[in-house]
Amino acid sequence: MRLTSSSVRGASLSCSTLAFLLLLHCCHITSILGQKSDSALSVVENTEGAEREGVDEEEAMVDEGDSEVVHPTEEWQTLKPGQAVPAGSHVRLNLQTGQREVRLGEEQLKYWTQEHRGKEETQSPFSPDELKQALKKIKEDLNSESKDTDQQDSVASKFRPLEELKRDMAQLDLLVETDVQIMRRLLEQLNSSNLTTEQRLSILLELEYMVHQVDNAQTLCSMGGLQLILQGLNSSDFRLQESSAFVLGSALASNPAVQVKAVENGALQMLLTMLATTPPLRVKKKVLFAVASLLRHFPYAQSHFLSHGGLQVLSELFRADGGGVLRTRIVTMLYDMIAEKELISQAGLDPMLDGSHEERVRQYSKVSLQGELLEKGWCSLVPQLLESTEHDYREKALRALLAMAPVCLEQYRSDSALLGSLLSLRDQYQEMVQSEMILGEENGYFAEIVELIDALQVKIK
Ligand SMILES: *[C@@H]1O[C@H](CO)[C@@H](O)[C@H](O)[C@H]1NC(C)=O
Ligand SMILES: *[C@@H]1O[C@H](CO)[C@@H](O)[C@H](O)[C@H]1NC(C)=O
Ligand SMILES: *[C@@H]1O[C@H](CO)[C@@H](O)[C@H](O)[C@H]1NC(C)=O
Repeated sequence: MRLTSSSVRGASLSCSTLAFLLLLHCCHITSILGQKSDSALSVVENTEGAEREGVDEEEAMVDEGDSEVVHPTEEWQTLKPGQAVPAGSHVRLNLQTGQREVRLGEEQLKYWTQEHRGKEETQSPFSPDELKQALKKIKEDLNSESKDTDQQDSVASKFRPLEELKRDMAQLDLLVETDVQIMRRLLEQLNSSNLTTEQRLSILLELEYMVHQVDNAQTLCSMGGLQLILQGLNSSDFRLQESSAFVLGSALASNPAVQVKAVENGALQMLLTMLATTPPLRVKKKVLFAVASLLRHFPYAQSHFLSHGGLQVLSELFRADGGGVLRTRIVTMLYDMIAEKELISQAGLDPMLDGSHEERVRQYSKVSLQGELLEKGWCSLVPQLLESTEHDYREKALRALLAMAPVCLEQYRSDSALLGSLLSLRDQYQEMVQSEMILGEENGYFAEIVELIDALQVKIK
């Protein structure tokens, strides 16, 4: 199915190093002097698990594509050669090691500006004026950053040879279609009215491949492609809905600029509406993927997700999903949101914080996730996932139960089904740990699950 796009893979990979280096120009190069000490923070649990079922080939492709792009977190992490950086990330050179390091940028934070704050109680959260203000603020900030030329020049000089290389390649008149040209061609094709559904689907598939590159996803936005994708979501054909949601989710993943654009274009409400109405499971899976990508590290979107009844919609989905595929994804998404917020508050213990931390804390404090979880019945829903026969699903459930313990403890204590499950699961996994040990495996997967159960039982006591 992916063979058609594999021909472009080689070309686009060879461009990725170039793209990464060029990206550095756009990124905010922060001072190398203000070294942040290694803090005791742990990295948020990976999200790969959400895609871990062998059933879903397409989303396995997501993982593969993701490996070229770094997922910045709160902490500085070292960049490996060839890794791409989401625009808006902070990139710096570490003089001690000579390596480049990246961490989460501020674009998503800036979106929730002072102007938003005053109005958000009285106005519709997505009013165009408000959005314009926020955008203007972002642009101003970008402009003021670009005046900061000294640092940029010194970095630019390092990469000039690549610019020259590029020019030389152009002079050689190599007829290689650049990513921008490919994107333009695909979007023009998608925009013509005389296509068959099959043709549209194959274009969307190619686009999905392209937008894993951070700059391609931004090109998609700047060329007006986001509207085309949203129209595809709005289509009455389930296959088009599914593929459009897939493109959107991939474009949004770790891409703050696209997240902001998507919210401006009403993507959040469209996605929520789709989840609430009744398209087939495969459409819902992709829509959920897009929602998760949209909310990640974007407290503004999270807050509006909650105020637009997002958790209510998810709880209905959870109840309706017997198979457990959606349940696991939903629980993982909730866990990620709790962990993200938790990580921010833990960061408060770190004495070397930059100025944006306070703003970050303020924005996350508006995301009233915990209270909502209690109110919408999640304390009794998540335990149901333990009834699954999949180890992976149970593990996800246990992690979420632990994360939710601060608000759910009373309910856990009176939930006899949960208490019973924990006892029998512990026996079951303890036995499996024994067999793991006989095979010479220590600290295996099942031991990890036993630890989770123990931790939960300690809290409940
Ligand atoms: C669709 O329309 C464009 C012009 O808008 C034309 O160039 C193209 O050949 C048409 N394709 C088909 C399959 O009719
Ligand atoms: C699609 O076509 C319309 C006119 O037919 C044009 O206004 C719009 O800009 C096009 N969009 C894209 C993304 O090419
Ligand atoms: C989706 O469809 C509705 C009704 O058909 C329409 O009002 C809305 O503008 C459409 N949205 C997009 C993004 O095409």
